[in-house]
Amino acid sequence: MSAPNNSHDPVEAHALNPDEVARMRAEAMEAVAAANSLDQLKEVRIAHAGDRSPLALANREIGGLPPAAKADAGKRVGGARREISEAFKTRQAELEEERDARVLVEEAVDVTLSFDPIPRGARHPLTTVAERMTDIFVGMGFEVAEGPEVEAEWYNFDALNFLPDHPARSMQDTFFVEGPGGAHSGLVLRTHTSPVQVRALLDRDAPVYVVAPGKTFRTDELDATHSPVFHQLEGLVVDEGITLAHLRGAIQVFVERMFGEGLRTRMRPSYFPFTEPSAEVDMECFVCRGASVGDPDAPCRTCSSEGWIEIGGCGVMNPRVLTAAGVDTERYSGWAFGLGIERTLMFAHGVKDMHDMVEGDVRFTAAFGMEI
Ligand code: DAH
Repeated sequence: MSAPNNSHDPVEAHALNPDEVARMRAEAMEAVAAANSLDQLKEVRIAHAGDRSPLALANREIGGLPPAAKADAGKRVGGARREISEAFKTRQAELEEERDARVLVEEAVDVTLSFDPIPRGARHPLTTVAERMTDIFVGMGFEVAEGPEVEAEWYNFDALNFLPDHPARSMQDTFFVEGPGGAHSGLVLRTHTSPVQVRALLDRDAPVYVVAPGKTFRTDELDATHSPVFHQLEGLVVDEGITLAHLRGAIQVFVERMFGEGLRTRMRPSYFPFTEPSAEVDMECFVCRGASVGDPDAPCRTCSSEGWIEIGGCGVMNPRVLTAAGVDTERYSGWAFGLGIERTLMFAHGVKDMHDMVEGDVRFTAAFGMEI
């Protein structure tokens, strides 16, 4: 004898009985109500209304029920699933509303706050270093003189005792300004600030104590240590009884104020057409103060373990220059110096590469602060 045709798995029957459906519904409703964020609600939806949720699985079993039981079970399960789906929609709307309200508060912008419409830039460190250098000499009684960047060859070379065939005049160093139709204009982009010496002397009567910071130009390629545009600080003293000792004193004061008390300076013989005698000026390395010399265990990157750093050229004024500038050489004598401003910035602030100084990246400039 075969069993009556009402056989279905007792477990399936269990999943579809009213108590069990009510339990699954209650569990889902509770989980929906407990979801506190849209993310949590999404997980609850997968667990209680997804394809593999208990009610979805129960729904699949309806097909296996005897025809008489199908309609009843279908109503029960379908009703529970609809209610759960409604509850989801309601909770979803509530949570979205809460999120929107929170975003409005958290991401609010106070449009009444004052703001700076134009982001402020920073002065270029070359400018501020040039001013500091200049101020040191102004503090010693010097005044500031200026000259043009497009300069007559006569001031840039002839008056400074550069003979017509001096190599510094050659195309390799000097930017010549072309005249109309390519003619010789007699103008150059000044290759140094020394022509300001002659202009300053022609402009005023001795005694003269001037410094002239400014831009200078040479046909160099831009690399880590060269730039076709660079800056110098020229110094000039013409007075009665002026000697090399005053020059040494002025340089010594400059170095101590700029780089630190007690640093020594020295002069090495050199040659410039406009000074006689001429010298290169070195200062003691302010990092190692000479300790790195001959000590391979403690190399100094600032002075390459030389102990000294070259900062410029100087010398006693050649009487020919004084004569060209209309100064009575019987009565007056003088000296001059030229200091590199880029070099000073490199040493004073550890700037390693010329590119940083010329590329105009405000992140480099701003790091030096807003010194006015
Ligand atoms: N004009 C020189 C140069 O550009 C630097 C210089 C050397 C300036 C000696 C001076 C000086 O006034 O006396 O290389």
